[in-house]
Amino acid sequence: MNIIEIINKKREKQILTKEEIEFAVTGFCTGEVKDYQMSSLLMAICLNGLSQEETFYLTDCMLHSGDTIDLSSIHGIKVDKHSTGGVGDKTTIILAPLVASLGVPVAKMSGRGLGYTGGTIDKLESIPGFQVTKTEKEFIKQVNEIGVSVVGQTGDLVPADKKIYALRDVTGTVSSIPLIASSIMSKKIASGADKIVIDVKVGEGALVNNIEDARTLAHTMVEIGKRYQKQTVCILTNMDEPLGCNIGNALEVQECIEILQGGGPKDLKDLVITLASYMVMLGKEISLQEAKVQVIEQLTSGKAYDKFLEFIKAQEGDITKLMVAPKVFSVKSVKTGFVETIDALKIGKLVHDIGAGRTKKEDEIHYGVGVKINKKPGDFVTEGEELIKVYLDTIDCKMQDVLDCFVIANDAKVNQTLIYEVIE
Ligand code: URA
Repeated sequence: MNIIEIINKKREKQILTKEEIEFAVTGFCTGEVKDYQMSSLLMAICLNGLSQEETFYLTDCMLHSGDTIDLSSIHGIKVDKHSTGGVGDKTTIILAPLVASLGVPVAKMSGRGLGYTGGTIDKLESIPGFQVTKTEKEFIKQVNEIGVSVVGQTGDLVPADKKIYALRDVTGTVSSIPLIASSIMSKKIASGADKIVIDVKVGEGALVNNIEDARTLAHTMVEIGKRYQKQTVCILTNMDEPLGCNIGNALEVQECIEILQGGGPKDLKDLVITLASYMVMLGKEISLQEAKVQVIEQLTSGKAYDKFLEFIKAQEGDITKLMVAPKVFSVKSVKTGFVETIDALKIGKLVHDIGAGRTKKEDEIHYGVGVKINKKPGDFVTEGEELIKVYLDTIDCKMQDVLDCFVIANDAKVNQTLIYEVIE
């Protein structure tokens, strides 16, 4: 077999065999297939696509490129949740204890942020003392004892995806649907859960920005799930604006606490209730309506918050020491009108640039910096009224750049749809 023939075949829109896909992926991992050859194949896939069968072979091959986690010693149906990523998306920190408080075990491995979207692990690490590293044995023990654990990746899960993703990032091949589907599903299946809920973000601040592509991505992932007998539910949600009001690691944890105590912004709360209801439906094998009633009860009664405190304590975090940055600036509107849009990408980048994110893996994060949005799309604002607060420490930003994230109009037509559809 020859990598050039495989590249040519895909360039000519032909279907690759299981062996050819294996040859390319395995060869790339061992170094026999060079970066420039894999880049070329990825671009051919990006332009000409993969069939369902090819996508499955690619997923399977990536899945078997490294370790897999065995969660069978945890009692009950384990439901994992994944988000395709968005600005202000902090749902895992709320969902993990919330769902666990209803008896559905959550054994979750999460990632760090790279680029303008934050990562759950960085957000959790903004809680002083919080430990994200555990052995597989300790991780499983904690889930069996208190029902929940969220850690950084243990072992060497799907190394092929790490290598391929790094290449996609710099070759303009991130947006291919079969590549996204196989990347996400190989990692989810390797992490050992029985069932999977995926929040597929659609919009300007998301990986896919139209509903048709989001549907195709969702159907592809549901089909891959079926091949492994892992029931998969994809929820297509709006990412035209940041989720919730707080963006930045410690500020996002603060907002999670507000939701767990029964308050918090409506969009975040509604999304959490929807995602948690599907997770509980799958985990307890009950109806969606029944699951929703139970989820709301946990949030209003404080039981979800109690589980959160237990979870943070089990991972040695001290929530009383959570700190936000000391310099707080209030940015005021220069116009009267309705907030039409808040550019999620711009605001994500701004928060990243004041220190909340990293550009290179070894960059240090400033946990306390970020923003608190005071006016969301659809809200009326008068000139001089506060739009947003900015929390800074050592890195400054231009207030005009903050203002540029907002569009204020005389009569704003705002797309308030949060959940577009569910594909299962
Ligand atoms: N998230 C992933 O894990 N992989 C992708 O390809 C895109 C988003």
